[in-house]
Amino acid sequence: MEIKKIGVLGAGTMGAGIAQVSVEAGYSVVLIDVVPEIVEKAVKGLNKAWAKAVEKGKKTADDVSAYNALLTSSTDINDFKDVDIVIEAIVENIDIKKKVQKQLGEICKADAILATNTSALSITEIAAATNRPDKVLGMHFFNPVVMMKLVEVIPGAVTTDDVVQAVVEMSKKIGKEPVPVKESPGFIVNRILVPYINEAAIVFQEGVASAAEIDKAMKLGAGMPMGPLALADMVGIDIVLAVCEFFVKEFADSKYRPSLAFRTKVRAGHLGMKTGKGFYDYSK
Ligand code: 3HC
Repeated sequence: MEIKKIGVLGAGTMGAGIAQVSVEAGYSVVLIDVVPEIVEKAVKGLNKAWAKAVEKGKKTADDVSAYNALLTSSTDINDFKDVDIVIEAIVENIDIKKKVQKQLGEICKADAILATNTSALSITEIAAATNRPDKVLGMHFFNPVVMMKLVEVIPGAVTTDDVVQAVVEMSKKIGKEPVPVKESPGFIVNRILVPYINEAAIVFQEGVASAAEIDKAMKLGAGMPMGPLALADMVGIDIVLAVCEFFVKEFADSKYRPSLAFRTKVRAGHLGMKTGKGFYDYSK
């Protein structure tokens, strides 16, 4: 099972990043989002990043032409009919993911793999909604996709070894380090990282220190590349809150209870960098 053509569904931060690393590795990529403005923004963003790389001498104009020749963008999900894999990176909502994955199963060719980029949700549950649960698996990328080397590869209950192997190979070709993980809420990274970010938000909520002081302390005292609250803003506070809530539900353990600071910010629409405000203000 060799993957030659990749479909990416969802042209937000994660989808655009996945499309970028895939075309840079020489794959043909079909990038689809149902919202035309989101696709346009993603393609513009990729070209902006490539133009910067050309300026810095890290890429050539020919590289950029080749990337654009490999990249097709669309708003019509039927354009996935000849891809070998779809990496779905849409909203982190199990019901929507199940509905969309079912639709992908009806559109894609019979042997196409369906991957879902989820922060924490059950692959088995998503797979069971499709006509090919043996070809569904999780591919969990990290933000920013171009910088973070890891991809967690998560088979569902009936995913075949061939499918896992094909995705492991593809992950290596796009410059990532795949780590296979058994299905479990949050897999490895988010199971550990999200409670850490949540604790930082609880410390903030208690008034122990300001967001900047908490972040400074974790960078200088624990060697973190960025502080936990800046990270929450980068990942999206809505995403972190959704993962905490999922953990509470799945583990029935109050130790995952989300900080009130997350709820307040989400209610105010302050989701982090993507809305211009979160623990920090990005509007200036
Ligand atoms: N997008 C794309 N590229 C970025 C970027 C971004 N958001 N931020 C920085 N970069 C690039 C810069 O362009 C630069 O590239 P160049 O070397 O080609 O010029 C390079 O990164 C280094 O830039 P900086 O010196 O400004 O940045 P740092 O060295 O401080 O690194 C970082 C930035 C990689 C974001 C680093 O701070 C880091 O590793 N932070 C932690 C990120 C992390 O934990 N991510 C995982 C989040 S959890 C998740 O995604 C899972 C989800 O399910 C919740």
